[in-house]
Amino acid sequence: MNNTLFPPTPEFTQKANIDIEGYHALYQQSIESPEQFWGKHGKRLHWFTPYSKVKNTSFEKGDIHINWFEDGQLNASYNCLDRHLETQGDKIAIIWEGDDASNQQTITYRQLHERVCQFANVLLSKGVTKGEVVTIYMPMVPEVIIAMLACARIGAPHSVIFAGFSPDAIASRVKDGNSKVIITADEGVRGGRITPLKANVDHAIEQLDEGQIETVIVYQHTGNSAIWVDNRDLCWQEACAQVDHTHQAEAMNAEDPLFLLYTSGSTGQPKGVLHTTGGYLVYTSMTHEYVFDYKKDDIHWCTADVGWITAHSFMVYGPLCNGATVVMHEGIPNSPSASRIGEMIDRHNVTVLYTAPTLIRALMAKGADSFNEYQGDSLRLMGTAGEPINPQAWLWYHEVIGKQRCPIVDTWWQTETGAPMLTPLPGATATKPGAATLPFFGIKPELVDNDGNIIEGAGEGNLVFTGSWPSQMRTVYGNHQRFEETYFSTFENYYFSGDGARRDEDGYFWITGRVDDVLNVSGHRLGTAEVESALVSHTTVAEAAVVGYPHNIKGQGIYAYVTLTENTEPTDELKHTLTQWVRQHLGALATLDTIQWAPDLPKTRSGKIMRRFLRKIAANDYDNFGDSSTLAEPAVIEQLIENRISPP
Ligand code: WT7
Repeated sequence: MNNTLFPPTPEFTQKANIDIEGYHALYQQSIESPEQFWGKHGKRLHWFTPYSKVKNTSFEKGDIHINWFEDGQLNASYNCLDRHLETQGDKIAIIWEGDDASNQQTITYRQLHERVCQFANVLLSKGVTKGEVVTIYMPMVPEVIIAMLACARIGAPHSVIFAGFSPDAIASRVKDGNSKVIITADEGVRGGRITPLKANVDHAIEQLDEGQIETVIVYQHTGNSAIWVDNRDLCWQEACAQVDHTHQAEAMNAEDPLFLLYTSGSTGQPKGVLHTTGGYLVYTSMTHEYVFDYKKDDIHWCTADVGWITAHSFMVYGPLCNGATVVMHEGIPNSPSASRIGEMIDRHNVTVLYTAPTLIRALMAKGADSFNEYQGDSLRLMGTAGEPINPQAWLWYHEVIGKQRCPIVDTWWQTETGAPMLTPLPGATATKPGAATLPFFGIKPELVDNDGNIIEGAGEGNLVFTGSWPSQMRTVYGNHQRFEETYFSTFENYYFSGDGARRDEDGYFWITGRVDDVLNVSGHRLGTAEVESALVSHTTVAEAAVVGYPHNIKGQGIYAYVTLTENTEPTDELKHTLTQWVRQHLGALATLDTIQWAPDLPKTRSGKIMRRFLRKIAANDYDNFGDSSTLAEPAVIEQLIENRISPP
């Protein structure tokens, strides 16, 4: 822990949207009279029908419900596009840079509006109806934003699947959402590597019931030929050429679904996190304004892929709702070399940069030399999200990218929360390297011990929230019971984040990481159960236990203990096969770093695997190892320690 305070500079604070007195005043208002507070701030959107009810929420056992602005009507696409046309139609909405930097494109709000309307008409012509889930599996090209906003425009919730995911992952999500239309591209390009997106979709469809998928819309991106299925596949460009480019946005109820986004939990099946329209948009646009100190000439670059919530909220909905200019990059910010990110900041005059600690650590590992040419004059504010940032990486970011001038907002949030919950406000909060600091307006965090008792003052515990906020997820798609069980049953009457945290003497929150069986690999969530079930689906594997261990760049690496079936030879070749097998099932994020053959796993007498010990062994950390005498066979531990493999 690093307790050095970095107060905002007077120059920054002077121009900032809010200072520390302002923060405390607004925070207090938001907690004392949430109805009044959100009633007022909800008006930042354009409502077709104004709401009269602001908040109708409860976390009380047996009566959990979450409704915001429930009798209001609006459209998210209208808020991101139409209402800017009169005042700033010619302002650039998207600056796009290809994987190959010689490909550049800008799109104004007017052009974006026209293209979204056009694509909405394509969806309508294919019979997409209000409420029907549309799957999007696209590379980082402007068309993915167009597709999302077109869905929002006609009231069809989108379900974006990260383009790095495998056909298996696509199939299970498409099935869960009962989606009939998939939007994809022929191929994606990242860091010079081509991903056969359309072919992956075809493979996914093979796993689904025949006839589920009625239409696959294919954006011709690289132009390389893909296999075509007549009467099902439709070329994006051709389809757009045939429809009108005007469309009136559908009036949606505030609580109508806006999108689904799948994320890993502690059980095998990823869950479809459902966000609705009004509350999500109010809270994302408001956090964009305050956390990123939005000014109308900002150039806002969020480096996250659109397959994650970070980009949903801070490349698409938050900034566009506020009429901002966003940068979108097709490729990887450190490819072809570490200097790329600095070149892009300078080239596009980026003012606000939002990225993940894992990228910062990767850049740091390359050394500051990659930034000799970097000027960074345009940059004024930087953010991080997705995982705890270690103080060294924070300081490096501050010094090398931020030139010791730009404040850093370390924003804690989740797919489930829609937008930041614990975060500094850059003109207000004195930051500390590695601390997510203080709650945003309307957010009531608490730490509780394992019995659910609230911990007052400085201390460490499970991070929970005692009341709803507008962009809270509403349900697990198709499984409301799972929603209540996952988030509200561990600690009754609270929303439980699954994270542990510490609060210091200044009331600042420091996230210590997940306390459940969820890994955070390079800022991406992965359930240990998902990896285990992929492993045991291989015929050679009898049993598997997967844990995370500290990894210099990825934050957490994946360490797998594998018990083979009888008569299977434990060879290096098999390790390779299993690694590939898991990647094939779950995608490249799930690349195992280490496999240790484990003839036995440590289990309780009732047969439960004791991961606590496995985590300790993987981390090579035997302090507070704990009592292994309750194990069915304590000798198993000795054996595992003896055969431990040092991860790369
Ligand atoms: C999990 C949520 C930020 C949205 C993108 C990730 C971890 C997130 C921080 C942070 C420490 C963080 C938590 C959380 N996390 N932000 N600033 N400091 N940890 O969303 O994939 O739903 O993952 O990421 O463990 O629970 P996600």
